[in-house]
This record gives sequence, C-alpha cells and structure tokens, in this order.
Amino acid sequence: MSRPFLPRPDIPDSLVAAERGYALRPWHRSDAPLVREAFAPEDMAPMGPWPMRTDAEAVQWIADWTHKQVQGIGYALAVQSPLGRVIGNVAVSDVDRVNGTGWVTYWTAPSARGRGVATIGLRALATWAYTALDLYRLELGHRVSNAAACSVAKRAGFQVEGLQRAKLRLEGARYDVELHARLATDPVPDL
Ligand SMILES: CC(C)(COP(=O)(O)OP(=O)(O)OC[C@H]1O[C@@H](n2cnc3c(N)ncnc32)[C@H](O)[C@@H]1OP(=O)(O)O)[C@@H](O)C(=O)NCCC(=O)NCCS
Repeated sequence: MSRPFLPRPDIPDSLVAAERGYALRPWHRSDAPLVREAFAPEDMAPMGPWPMRTDAEAVQWIADWTHKQVQGIGYALAVQSPLGRVIGNVAVSDVDRVNGTGWVTYWTAPSARGRGVATIGLRALATWAYTALDLYRLELGHRVSNAAACSVAKRAGFQVEGLQRAKLRLEGARYDVELHARLATDPVPDL
C-alpha cells in the first residue's frame, strides 16, 4: 500500500514535549557543528556510520537521517534542554511496520552528560514512537561495559532480555552486548 506524500504525521514538525522542560525536535542542517563536536569522544565511534571530523560529514549524518525519516524507516530527534540548547540525540531505526518494532540508540554531548539527558530523551522517544509511529516493541543493545547506557535503558523502562556474546568488534577486540526491550504496555519507572 502506498503512503501519502503529505502530510506525514510520523514526522514531527515541531517540539515533542519531554519531562522536566526538555523537548525533542528534528535535526536541522545548521546543527552540524554541534553534531561534529558531540562525536569527538572515543566512546562515540560506534555511534556513527563514519568518523565525524568535519561539518560536511556531520551535515551528511543529518541528511542521512532525514532520508531515512522520509522513507519511514528511521527517525533521529535532537534532545533540547529547557534553555533551548541541543545537547543529545535519541533515535529509532530499523522501523518494521509489520511487526511494530524499532531499534533505539542514544547519545549525549560530552558537556551535558550525567544530568539525565539521555534518560529523559529516551523516555520521550519511546512515548513518541508508541503513539506517532504506532510501534509496539522497542529494542536496544549496549556493550556490557557501558554501565551508563544500561542505567539509561533501565530508567526508561527497557527490561534486560539477554546477552549476545562477542557481538561487536571494535579496534580488534570483541564485546558482549546486553539486549533490552520495552513493550508499549510495559510499566515505566518513576524518574
Ligand atoms: C551513555 C550516555 C548516552 C549516557 O548519557 P547521559 O545523558 O549522561 O545519561 P543520564 O545522565 O541520563 O544517565 C546516566 C546514568 O548512568 C549513570 N552513569 C553515568 N556514568 C556512569 C558510569 N561510568 N558508570 C556507571 N553509571 C554511570 C548515571 O549515574 C545515571 O544513572 P542514574 O540515573 O541511575 O543515576 C552517554 O554517556 C553517551 O553518549 N555515551 C556514548 C554513546 C553511548 O554509549 N550510547 C549508548 C549506546 S545506545
């Protein structure tokens, strides 16, 4: 069945409200310097399809997500602070409309970490994905050594489902990945 070209209720054209005055919004081309800076730390290497060394590469990252969004297969939303600064990203990719599933990722700009940004962003993304995209099951995975990512997942209501042994190879070493998932009907812990 073909999808209507416009309007697309699954593409937010304004802010998506999150808790504590935060909000999600679509990425804009003008956000490229911020994306480049956010990808500078070593722990961000697995989060991008290519190294984000220049603004042009960051523009391409934004364009890539916009393309996925138009296709209806992936959505990346910037996390905006109560002061209106963009400080993180939450995304759902591999959107499967038949089964109502999606794969979730998140990152926070280095200067804004440890303040609950990813937790608030992920909780808002999940609510949005269950309603605007009509998904039922959201999945994510993190290296077992990534305690912060695990904590974010649990505080956003994503239950542990299992372990994928030696799933990732990074700089020659292999890493186990812990899987989490949250169903639309799962309870969400208080923030
Ligand atoms: C993982 C990441 C997204 C967390 O972002 P954040 O905005 O700092 O996360 P929050 O502040 O919402 O929550 C961090 C939680 O992890 C905990 N935490 C932070 N660093 C930690 C560490 N080194 N060890 C253990 N827990 C840690 C915090 O205490 C907090 O838990 P709490 O709410 O129970 O106190 C961020 O570190 C990041 O962008 N990392 C690189 C990308 C990545 O790994 N993404 C996840 C894979 S999908």
